[in-house]
Amino acid sequence: MFANAMSELGMPPNSIENDEYRERQAKLFSDMPLKSAMIICANPQSTRSNDVHYPFRTNSDLLYLTGWLEEGAVLFAKKIENHKPKVILFVKPNDVLKEIWEGRRLGTDGAKKTSPIDDARSIDELEEFINSEIRDVSEIFHQMNKNTKLDELLLSLISERSREKQKHGDGPIKITDPTNILSELRLIKSDKEINLLKHACEITAYSHIEAMKMTKPNMGEWQLQGLIEGCFRYCGSSGWAYPSIVGSGDNATILHYKTNEEVMLSGDLVLVDAGAEYEGYAADITRTWPVNGTFSAEQRDIYSLVLESQKAAIEACIVGNPCNSHHIAASEVLRKGLVKLGIISQNSEDKDADLKKYFMHGTGHWLGLDVHDVGTYEPDGKPRLYEQGMVITVEPGLYFSKWREDIPELDDKWRGIGVRIEDDILITNSGPEILTSMCPKEIDEIELLMK
Ligand code: GLY
Ligand code: MN
Ligand code: MN
Repeated sequence: MFANAMSELGMPPNSIENDEYRERQAKLFSDMPLKSAMIICANPQSTRSNDVHYPFRTNSDLLYLTGWLEEGAVLFAKKIENHKPKVILFVKPNDVLKEIWEGRRLGTDGAKKTSPIDDARSIDELEEFINSEIRDVSEIFHQMNKNTKLDELLLSLISERSREKQKHGDGPIKITDPTNILSELRLIKSDKEINLLKHACEITAYSHIEAMKMTKPNMGEWQLQGLIEGCFRYCGSSGWAYPSIVGSGDNATILHYKTNEEVMLSGDLVLVDAGAEYEGYAADITRTWPVNGTFSAEQRDIYSLVLESQKAAIEACIVGNPCNSHHIAASEVLRKGLVKLGIISQNSEDKDADLKKYFMHGTGHWLGLDVHDVGTYEPDGKPRLYEQGMVITVEPGLYFSKWREDIPELDDKWRGIGVRIEDDILITNSGPEILTSMCPKEIDEIELLMK
């Protein structure tokens, strides 16, 4: 199993280096106003049951700015007059007993030596430090409701400052959500980030191909999931970037189906939406293939239409186009195709509403450290324009559920068919680059692969 993985994937790309983290921090400081500070907390460890935790994955903003992976960390960045802006990382200190059970920690010395930061301190010093360090700032970028203790500390400092206003003339501190500043930085990917994304895409494409080759009638959806996710790990990724969707037959029409517990039957399609994470970066691929290796006539009709719409949408991913262009292009093709197939009536008064019965989601989203990556789509109330270095998914689909009694006009022959085709696209000055192009999507290619 996975015999050719290493030769087909090529060398893993380099990790992000400290110089790049420092450049990101410099850009952040240039966007922060004078007399401001930013606090970013690692996600908390989540309990799965009793004393068992979910695998830890840190906050993407913290990862973006420092590459720091261990739990329990907090970043503090401050910009004031006449001082070099500073990034200080609060980390769990070394502790032999804890490390024997939980694994080694870099600790403050390790963080100072290896991380792109100005100083490292024990997390135990955080509150005292913040108490003294934010007295000369007037704005704090901090996401509330993630760390209650810190929220309370900041709120009490703010009310203290408000009371002192009369005495010293200092205004109260304003708390601002840092998401906007950080998302703008994260939206445009650097060359090194693109290499990591490409590797996540290669691993994901390889895993989908292996899954296609091994699909047989009467296999369980869970078995396909096991193969794909096993392949992600085998190929060196940390695992999935989001829970894998393996839906056969009518399950393919449930957009976020993830129980993956049914047996796959001959004559049905299976929709697989699964992506690996590599060094924090997510891939996001959907492919749909016939469980028995051959598309039926109806499945071909629907699949070909979704594929045509996906290609039209990819072609619309051009620098300078509004970022909803791909959705408009995909919708146009799907609408016309459904009329041609007789699924939407030629005389329909509202073809958009009719299309929404079968294509009810957007055509894509930004991709990066998060699978639904950050970045506003309409910062000024209208779609922003594509720029070089943005990465977006293109994923139109059509879903005809057996159980949808609200669409009695739908012919039974289409029911039980769900198709989505999803690729990851880098916007470049020379046109859209499909980062997932190694994953087959033509009907003939898929049928050949499954023989
Ligand atoms: N896999 C989640 C999505 O496609 O949006
Ligand atoms: Mn997606
Ligand atoms: Mn997806």
